[in-house]
Amino acid sequence: MAELVVAAAAPAPAGRWGAAPPQELLERLKDYGQEGAFALWDELAPEERDFLVRDIQSIDLARIDRIVRCSLRSQGGPVPVVQPVPESSVATVDDRSPEDKERWWRRGLKAIAEGKLAVVLLAGGQGTRLGSSDPKGCFSIGLPSGKSLFQLQAERILCVQKLAAQSTDAPGNTPQIHWYIMTSPFTDETTRKFFESRRYFGLEPDQVTFFQQGTLPCVSPDGRFIMETPYKVARAPDGNGGVYAALKSKRLLDDMSARGVKYIDCYGVDNVLVRVADPTFLGYFIDKGVSAAAKVVRKAYPQEKVGVFVQRGRGGPLSVVEYSEMDASMTTEINQTTGRLRYCWSNVCLHMFSLEFLNQVTNSLEKDSVYHLADKKIPSIHGYTAGLKLEQFIFDVFTYSPSTALFEVMREEEFAPVKNANGATYDTPDSARLMLLRLHSRWVVAAGGFLTHSVPLYMTGVEVSPMCSYAGENLEAICRGRTFHAPSEISL
Ligand SMILES: *[C@@H]1O[C@H](CO)[C@@H](O)[C@H](O)[C@H]1NC(C)=O
Repeated sequence: MAELVVAAAAPAPAGRWGAAPPQELLERLKDYGQEGAFALWDELAPEERDFLVRDIQSIDLARIDRIVRCSLRSQGGPVPVVQPVPESSVATVDDRSPEDKERWWRRGLKAIAEGKLAVVLLAGGQGTRLGSSDPKGCFSIGLPSGKSLFQLQAERILCVQKLAAQSTDAPGNTPQIHWYIMTSPFTDETTRKFFESRRYFGLEPDQVTFFQQGTLPCVSPDGRFIMETPYKVARAPDGNGGVYAALKSKRLLDDMSARGVKYIDCYGVDNVLVRVADPTFLGYFIDKGVSAAAKVVRKAYPQEKVGVFVQRGRGGPLSVVEYSEMDASMTTEINQTTGRLRYCWSNVCLHMFSLEFLNQVTNSLEKDSVYHLADKKIPSIHGYTAGLKLEQFIFDVFTYSPSTALFEVMREEEFAPVKNANGATYDTPDSARLMLLRLHSRWVVAAGGFLTHSVPLYMTGVEVSPMCSYAGENLEAICRGRTFHAPSEISL
């Protein structure tokens, strides 16, 4: 950048665009109050002018203008009155009978065998907090197998496909679960290469579709573009909720429709225990006939920094309130009858949607154009400037859903996120690995296996390959009466 400043100081020879910026583009910028983007035109070298013109041309000015205006306007509006999620909207673990579980499992497998389920993975993030600039999904948490997050998830998809095939009359016809993987400009190329070099972990290459989430200009508090350099608008990814705009603009909802997909399982990349394409959850979703569903876990303690589901107004839609938006009394409020937290259903980014609902909601989101405004220090030509990043969140769609069901799951079975580097107090590779090893060890013991170990058992365990078992099923034949030395991987 220092070099370019020097270049800009020299008298700029007339380039492709001459001494004045292209008139038509300047007029369009003026229409939206963004002509400041050309403020340093006179100082730019010819190739910088070309770059700036292309940069501005790549921005959908009308759309961004609408987003900025609608988002600024909705800021600081009245706080919606919320109340706890009604009991009737939650299927708790305690309420669930073995018959329910069996029914949902079969129903889900049947729908998967019929090709009705697709999976959307949110994988735009880098492992920055884990000390890596690689996509988070490439990260290995140090399991005995050495598998990356992507590989664990791919193999779980393979396993569900196999189970779905076995559940039909024609077990030879393995159904395909299409996997849509959302990357970002920072992770796209590395992610594709990672999958190619590892032969898609056994999946068919054509059952995986990569697509990039969008970016949006960063703006000043009064809505003007912030310039990262004299010839480039500062931009940031549009949040994990950018998945909706991306699915729509890349026509992937149509692609799903053409494949006969009816249901979409959507989750974040960093959960080591994620049950991708979970037949039970799908069966429950179909059974309830809802538009949207979320797996939830009980909040571990009142101050836990998680978003929780609430109901907006009496009889209103369910939505997620962020930890930062909750006041102390709401965070700690106890229901006197049950003795439990009133607001206890943590959102863990494990969602199921009907395709029909996603088609509707992407239109509604685009029409409303309300994004969250995150106050950030944005790198700019004036150093770090106070500005706003525009983001949508994956859970923003719940307020639009005509019907939402919550499905409680056990944290130790399904939720072990990797967010922080080892040494932090929670959500580390070490903590996630231990949760997986403990869960899988319990499966092995329940299936009649034995464990020996040279380090204390509370620090280790065995890993069960997803090629053997998805959620602890079908392990008797492999484990009964056998002894496994921990740590190790049990595979076929
Ligand atoms: C407390 O919990 C009970 C049982 O789940 C429920 O019926 C009641 O509405 C709750 N009370 C409040 C004030 O939320």
